Amino acid sequence: MKKIARFLSVLFISVLSSISIKAGDIEDAIYFSLRGLPPFPVDKSNYFQQNPDAIRFGGKLFFDTDFSFSGDVSCASCHFTNSRFIANESIPAGQSRNFRMVMQITGAAYNRFYFWDGRIDSLWAQALEPIEHPDEHNLQRHEAVKYVVNKYAKDLDTLMAQSDGYQKHLMLVHHWLTSQNQSLPIESINHVFALIGKCLAAYQASLPIDRTMWDEVAIAKINNQPLTLIQEKIWQGFNIFKGKGRCSACHDGPLFTDFSFHNTAMPTVSVLGIEVGRYRVLPEIQDLEFGCHSIYSDAGKDDCLHLKYLNKRIEENFGAFKTPTLRGINNKTRFGHAGQFSSLKAMIEHYNAPPIGTHGKLINQQSLSELQPLSLTEQEKGHLITFLEAL
Ligand code: HEC
Ligand code: HEC
Repeated sequence: MKKIARFLSVLFISVLSSISIKAGDIEDAIYFSLRGLPPFPVDKSNYFQQNPDAIRFGGKLFFDTDFSFSGDVSCASCHFTNSRFIANESIPAGQSRNFRMVMQITGAAYNRFYFWDGRIDSLWAQALEPIEHPDEHNLQRHEAVKYVVNKYAKDLDTLMAQSDGYQKHLMLVHHWLTSQNQSLPIESINHVFALIGKCLAAYQASLPIDRTMWDEVAIAKINNQPLTLIQEKIWQGFNIFKGKGRCSACHDGPLFTDFSFHNTAMPTVSVLGIEVGRYRVLPEIQDLEFGCHSIYSDAGKDDCLHLKYLNKRIEENFGAFKTPTLRGINNKTRFGHAGQFSSLKAMIEHYNAPPIGTHGKLINQQSLSELQPLSLTEQEKGHLITFLEAL
């Protein structure tokens, strides 16, 4: 369907445009830039996703360092640096977190699955993991709920006035907090905990996506304006990205990701050995404690289509990791889910002459890697890097 739409628009644009622009240039410039960004998809599992009060409250929580055991960790500690929403690489990707690098939250609301292996199926449920993780906020669930109910009583009241569903649970939590020796109302605690995640998700989904140098180039192309010298190089890099380099096969669209999972023969980290990635998390994903199908989700019976049409084929999931967005990649110094490469140049060499990939041998195949050798010239690699740096 997408292909047909693109073909028709190429046809349309090529009839209209002047001879100086190649057919398809304008449409590609739109397709891969902020101009082509669709509105955020509605997450039916989160009733509060677009609620302005939830967005405001989620924003306060995102930056609140008191919302942690040590009193100095917030979501922003790892996801907001130099006054921008970029990953803080000074936070080590240690053994306890499986050496996983901090991810970008740019455009996070467009994803269907979260984390490098996609083990969580919504943005609100994702936010709950770091709160309890011993190397992150390190809070016990009831402590997290207690803190929020006490400190953000007003914000919660405002939200409660807009939804009947949570009032009962908040009341039970209040009752537990005020009476002595009362056992934990576990289900109500979970509901309020889920609400915290939903507000954090609402906030993240409200964040605008930075307009970058690449978007300027795309706009100049769309408006048929002449490019500066550096813009011309960026454009040439883009042509390699979507052409000979085959990068757009996975890094697709304005966020440069297909939101899917691929085996790209990434080098193993010695202490971790061979990682099965996406494949390991698939058996549990239909029944996550805070998943789309759970009682804490606001989705209707037929709203969890990303779970219904899940790709479980071993060949496509074994050793596969999520295609990350490439927006803001210039702010990173380490690349890959475990920071396997320390420069864009090294990353491109990996794609240019990819290794066979160890995972296939575990299921009696030569390789499961989807990569093919590219034979890029030094100049083409240079243009590609210039393009990536403009994202
Ligand atoms: C100590 C650092 C740290 C803190 C604190 C932290 N994160 Fe993260 N975040 C990470 C790491 C590391 C990953 C990737 C982990 C993985 O894949 O196993 C990640 C992944 C994510 C993702 C997934 C993005 C994607 O595309 O899949 C989102 C969204 C996110 N974090 C939001 C949050 C929110 C919201 C909070 C606060 C509740 C938070 N993070 C707290 C380090 C942190
Ligand atoms: C078959 C799908 C696929 C193709 C083709 C592909 N990528 Fe990737 N890319 C991925 C996946 C998946 C990852 C994450 C791999 C991991 O860490 O395990 C990734 C990671 C990256 C990263 C690191 C991002 C980060 O945040 O750490 C960069 C940079 C990158 N790719 C650039 C490119 C370029 C440039 C090309 C073309 C030469 C390309 N990719 C082709 C799927 C692909």
